[in-house]
Amino acid sequence: MTEIPEHLLKRSRERRSAIGGGDDAATSESAPATTTSSTPATTAAAAAPAATGPAPRTAAPAPVAAPAPAPEPVYVQAAKRRKKIPFWAMATLSLMPVWGFMYVRAITEPPVVIAGPLGTGSEVYSNCASCHGAAGGGGVGYPFEGQSVLQTFPHIEDQIRYVYYGTEGFNAAGVEIYGNPDRPGGPHIAGARGVMPAFGSQLTQDEIVAVICHERYTLGGADPTSTEWAAEYAAWCAPGAPVFDAIETGEYDFTSPDAPTIGDVAIIPVGPAPVAGSPAG
Ligand code: HEC
Repeated sequence: MTEIPEHLLKRSRERRSAIGGGDDAATSESAPATTTSSTPATTAAAAAPAATGPAPRTAAPAPVAAPAPAPEPVYVQAAKRRKKIPFWAMATLSLMPVWGFMYVRAITEPPVVIAGPLGTGSEVYSNCASCHGAAGGGGVGYPFEGQSVLQTFPHIEDQIRYVYYGTEGFNAAGVEIYGNPDRPGGPHIAGARGVMPAFGSQLTQDEIVAVICHERYTLGGADPTSTEWAAEYAAWCAPGAPVFDAIETGEYDFTSPDAPTIGDVAIIPVGPAPVAGSPAG
């Protein structure tokens, strides 16, 4: 417990006499004597203004005189002076998680949406990744990366034929070599590495073309802007590619023996059955 410093009491007495509360000054004089006497002093001082003088006179200067009789400890005064939490703060704070959610959403990169056959193809490729590797690095089946798949199939139609009929289709037709017979490292023989499933009965024709676009351009490394691949890419794999669209709408069935020209693209028939090598040379 602290004693009230003399200079504060003096100031208090002066204040009180200045506003005409001289009577009270006498009462409060006894206050500083001991710490225990401060309680009666407070009650006496608090009661005094009510008992003496008319109400309006004491009411007006109250804010100035109030702390004087028995100043409250500084920490109580500070607590009273301190601004309270505004009523709207709780509502605002409760929205913080919502804000946090939006913030994280805003800074998270949106997933890259690939348009056209390559977008579809990357999804369809989930049927192939287990044997050929998620990035085309190979596994049970051959790799596609490093242009390997392009060396086997210089023409996209040959690859479509192979994926559609699979190893068994080629074996059943007695066809040994699939793709380019002059492939660097020697031709690929159906069944030499294992069994590639026939996807003709599992995927739609446009899904087969889309996944093959993914294998050639995304995994295999064909550059769609190069003179070698630009025409094939534009006809088969680009967003809005005319041959892909014709297959997607059912206008062109690639298992027919026809060799149509779509737009200005002359199609090599994929055909109703496996054929040896690469018919286009
Ligand atoms: C069950 C495993 C397996 C799955 C699934 C699979 N493949 Fe294959 N794939 C193989 C095997 C094995 C070979 C080699 C077959 C052979 O020796 O005749 C192969 C070969 C290939 C080739 C020839 C590559 C080359 O350079 O000779 C292509 C193209 C191909 N697969 C595409 C696909 C596509 C497209 C899918 C998915 C739609 C797929 N594969 C799913 C096992 C698989």
